[in-house]
Amino acid sequence: QPTFQVAIIGFGTVGEGVYRTLERKAKKIEALLGRSLHIPFVLVKSVEKDRDVLPVTKVTNRLEDLLEYDRLDVVVEASPDAETAYPFVTELLRRGVSVISANKELMAKYGEELHQLATDHRCHLLYEAAVAGGIPLLNTIRHTLKTNTVDRLEGILNGTSNFMLTKMREEGASFPQALREAQEKGYAEAVPDKDVDGWDAYFKTTILSHWIYGKAPVWKGEPKGIRHVTVEDISLANQLNGRIKHVASLVKVGDNVEASVEPCLVLNDHLLYGVEGVNNGIHIEGSIVGSVMLQGPGAGKYPTASAIVEDLVNLLLRKDEKVEEQGIEFVEHGFSEKVLDD
Ligand code: NDP
Ligand code: HSE
Repeated sequence: QPTFQVAIIGFGTVGEGVYRTLERKAKKIEALLGRSLHIPFVLVKSVEKDRDVLPVTKVTNRLEDLLEYDRLDVVVEASPDAETAYPFVTELLRRGVSVISANKELMAKYGEELHQLATDHRCHLLYEAAVAGGIPLLNTIRHTLKTNTVDRLEGILNGTSNFMLTKMREEGASFPQALREAQEKGYAEAVPDKDVDGWDAYFKTTILSHWIYGKAPVWKGEPKGIRHVTVEDISLANQLNGRIKHVASLVKVGDNVEASVEPCLVLNDHLLYGVEGVNNGIHIEGSIVGSVMLQGPGAGKYPTASAIVEDLVNLLLRKDEKVEEQGIEFVEHGFSEKVLDD
């Protein structure tokens, strides 16, 4: 059996996490797929940096190396932002190469166009890791909440902000100290303003709105982050038996979906109150199931690698079954899709 060929774009927290996980889980993955994985390329910005990769993996800064290779089954994309990723991902999809992305900014800004490209070129685009890190949220929504109408979703979607608020409350850490620690742990974006000014949660909320409602939400103003939350605010919340949490919400109002992202006072009987540290928590109200709460690591090297590797194995499993050749679209997504109401 030939090997599956996978390239990785970006070798920072996420890209390296994926590489190490594929190395560490090589036997299990081979047993699942019936073939081994080969990683011929890692694409980065600076080829001069020291990277701990096997000799069979070439570290390059040229997309052309990947394109000329012409045997890739999948590319994992873990570059820092939409502007970096867009030319790579569009070119790969145009050539029929499936992409698994961790990039929520890319998907929030260009999701519809990229899904169309993937459909036109008979390849696939998956991005479980882009929303809520290691929590299997998109797959849960897609595969197990189809019949329910989701009346409301409330979530803590930014691990960095939640980690910082927890540090500030538990240890009295200052805002810069807490941010520095989140950066050292690999939770924060390359430009951490996106975390602390609410943009990261805004991108994730936009993707969720497409997945649940098939359209972008109507925003109740600009997103607000935690930049102006002080240790005094946090201690005042504590005196009221509450915590300050950075909350994203989507609410169905008639035919519209209203969204907001802002720091809120959450009282101790609220489901998001106990979501602490780098964890994310998502509370969904479904019309049949009622209240569902998902919680888990929202950022970090291995939780994020877990979401990507699960997507990768699922995609390769289906590829091997040749589902496509039977004319069945196997990867379902939530962009531009007609959502039927009750
Ligand atoms: P890092 O900053 O740690 O790594 C980014 C990587 O991208 C680096 O290896 C960098 O190369 C490479 N890169 C930057 N510019 C270019 C370019 N022009 N061409 C090729 N490669 C480039 O980021 P993360 O790993 O933390 O995040 C990656 C993506 O994953 C982001 O989109 C982020 O939003 C998303 N994500 C991150 C999570 C996390 O916990 N960190 C969780 C979920 C999603 P070089 O090494 O040479 O500098
Ligand atoms: N910077 C993001 C966060 C990474 O802290 O949630 C995970 O998407």
